[in-house]
Amino acid sequence: MMQTDIIPVDSSNPDPSIIGSAVAVLRGGGLVAFPTETVYGLGADAFNVEAVKKVFLAKGRPADNPLIIHIALLEMLGSITERVPPIASRLAEAFWPGPLTLVLYALPGVPGIVTANLQTAAVRFPNHPVALAMIKEFGRGIVAPSANLSGRPSPTTAKHVKDDLNGKIDMILDAGPSLIGVESTVLDITVDPPVILREGGLVREQIEGVIGRVATTEEHEILRRSPGTRYRHYAPKARVILIPSGNKEEFLDRIKKSETQGKIVGSIVHSVALQTKKRQIRLSGDPTLYAKEFFSALRAMDEQGVEVLLVEGVAEEGIGAAVMERLRKAAGD
Ligand code: TXA
Ligand code: MG
Repeated sequence: MMQTDIIPVDSSNPDPSIIGSAVAVLRGGGLVAFPTETVYGLGADAFNVEAVKKVFLAKGRPADNPLIIHIALLEMLGSITERVPPIASRLAEAFWPGPLTLVLYALPGVPGIVTANLQTAAVRFPNHPVALAMIKEFGRGIVAPSANLSGRPSPTTAKHVKDDLNGKIDMILDAGPSLIGVESTVLDITVDPPVILREGGLVREQIEGVIGRVATTEEHEILRRSPGTRYRHYAPKARVILIPSGNKEEFLDRIKKSETQGKIVGSIVHSVALQTKKRQIRLSGDPTLYAKEFFSALRAMDEQGVEVLLVEGVAEEGIGAAVMERLRKAAGD
């Protein structure tokens, strides 16, 4: 493959001919990166094993990390799971389309390469007009991991996708920056109580408002069942050090120490005021805006050649929980 083209598409009114050409690529077993409300996804026909293989290859993704199947009509669940449990219906009613992925028992017809040979499949109904138009037109489920190289921060713009996957995929649909900026919340409803395997765009409190208490992975010691949680995700090239919110002294200590070691230091802050503005990105203290911008900030720091990256954490509430989960992973904790 040569260059991968970025094709602009109007999010409020996706051009049917552009959607049609993306669907043609998918039907031919190709790969299309497309916008969702969380992050950009790398789409392929979920029921075409050869196409799904290409997804793993393009991303350099370990084969034991399963993929999310994206749907655009509830009927599409019929080819993925045998019986939609009542709890899934309630969650779908409340939150779909939206940033919630449900882990359900999978039908044998779902390819093992998608589920990493687990008995379960992850399903998501994204809330983005371009994604919905494409999946509807395609007519069945589309696998879509985040469209980054495995281990890199998730892409929130078409340019991020191109930076990682140029020449390895067929097409990139560009509808502008992702609205939410962190991935969907992954909720396993095959266990009781259901467990959040990955914090994300839909906050825990909202889920609990509909189905009652949900557990955390630590409670369940369920790591074996959620292969993705094992990998060091979301990592920029720099070594990331997470600093508690407001702790200016630690910032200054760390900067001094790293500079003494001859390292190029960068920082991402929201409340702390540092003297130098060099290699510094200031994000909003509003957790929603912080979430939207911070993957992009990680990538920008890499582009500036930062070797040690100091990141100011956020409060663990609401979407802040998703941000902190990702920051801890980026820091390799
Ligand atoms: O917001 C999102 O979910 C984005 C956009 C593109 O939709 N997609 C995304 O996919 O984040 P990915 O592949 O980067 O992350 C999928 C996560 C991984 O942590 C994976 O281990 C988990 O979902 N997962 C997938 N299938 C699973 C299953 N059957 N059981 C448990 N975890 C599963
Ligand atoms: Mg990912």
